[in-house]
Amino acid sequence: MKEISIGLLGCGTVGTGVAKILIENKELIRSRVGAVLKLKYAADIDIKRDRGIRFDEGVLTDDAEKVLDDPEIDIIVEMIGGVGIAKDFILKAIRNGKHVVSANKALLAAYGNTLVKAAAEKRVDFAYEASVGGCMPIIKTLRESLAGNRIISMIGILNGTCNYILSKITDEGMSFEAALTQAQACGFAEADPTLDVEGFDTAHKLAILNALAYGMEINLKDIYIEGISEITHMDIELAGQFGYRIKLLAIGKNRGDRVEARVHPTMIPFDNLLSNVNANLNAVMVSGDAAGDMLLYGYGAGMMPTASAVVSDIVDIARNLLSGTTGRIPALAWQPEAIRKIPVMPVDEIFTYYYIRFSAEDRPGVLSKISGILGENEISIKSVHQKGRKIGGLVPIVMLTHRAKEANVKKALAEIAVLDIVGNKPVLIRIEDEDE
Ligand code: HSE
Repeated sequence: MKEISIGLLGCGTVGTGVAKILIENKELIRSRVGAVLKLKYAADIDIKRDRGIRFDEGVLTDDAEKVLDDPEIDIIVEMIGGVGIAKDFILKAIRNGKHVVSANKALLAAYGNTLVKAAAEKRVDFAYEASVGGCMPIIKTLRESLAGNRIISMIGILNGTCNYILSKITDEGMSFEAALTQAQACGFAEADPTLDVEGFDTAHKLAILNALAYGMEINLKDIYIEGISEITHMDIELAGQFGYRIKLLAIGKNRGDRVEARVHPTMIPFDNLLSNVNANLNAVMVSGDAAGDMLLYGYGAGMMPTASAVVSDIVDIARNLLSGTTGRIPALAWQPEAIRKIPVMPVDEIFTYYYIRFSAEDRPGVLSKISGILGENEISIKSVHQKGRKIGGLVPIVMLTHRAKEANVKKALAEIAVLDIVGNKPVLIRIEDEDE
């Protein structure tokens, strides 16, 4: 029986999960692959901690260089995270002719183009299924299953922490802080939770998906990013009254010679399947010109769901090695020469529906003044609601708009915000709804 040797770099939460699957499901994997996937090394700076698994003698090591330099190692699995040493180790692994598996979304978003190029030049496989959506095979779906489709759009809930927080606030009335603390205790929040709540982690994932879907270079810097830290109980409650739930969405849309790439809190109707993706679950709706709409749903974080995706990459590479077909599927789904720099559409140019909430004086002429400004800016109002209690002499007024241009909405809000009949900054939340 053939043996394929694996060197794991980083034995934290997900790395331990990978080791656990490789050790505990060794026979099952052997039966499927037709070779033994041998965990030769698991390297970590802390090799004393009890990880709840029995490693064979000599597997645990604190010497990552030894793993990278071992000629017997076929596949390096980078589970360190971050954009520092992880990048150096991956580049060294590639230079040493080793195939690489990583779950490192931040690294891919920042340096994915470089890493993919280095792997292609060295003719080694580079796989990163676990970088987006944990156990959901969204990367395999884009790289393989939908290879015959022109992708029209992708709309995803890609951060378990934000989804957990929004779900807890919406369904249990919990405070933002308490929900975040719980998410951290559950172990799916990033070490720096601002990466989660300010939308950066979701943007890292969207940058990867857009590249795979549209044949563009990974482009993080042009993604519009807004997190959930300013979402209030009042807006969540009002959204519910209008038949919407608020989710942090990653939106990647094909706009011909450009793409829309944005991350922001979004209202979605109750009857949209994504509206029912709650707690720390993730989902992504992909629309292809041949396939139509398809939804992937599952755990986007956590030890075993993420490790499941990592092991699927290891198995893919092992199968490639056994059949001598390395490089069969391009790392970014497109042949390197077909990958273009497709511009991201500035958010000001998008057209969508809006929820706008003002705090305004409750007296004659206020509404006509506000709606006059919206009208002058070509924003058509779908409905107006005066909801909730008076606070400091002001009442909340909510307007839902028809499709409008973002630049016009922002201009109108800036004009309204300086009126003396209006208090505070108006609240603006985009709505993702079917075209009317
Ligand atoms: N912090 C991420 C999340 C982990 O909450 O989804 C998975 O990428």
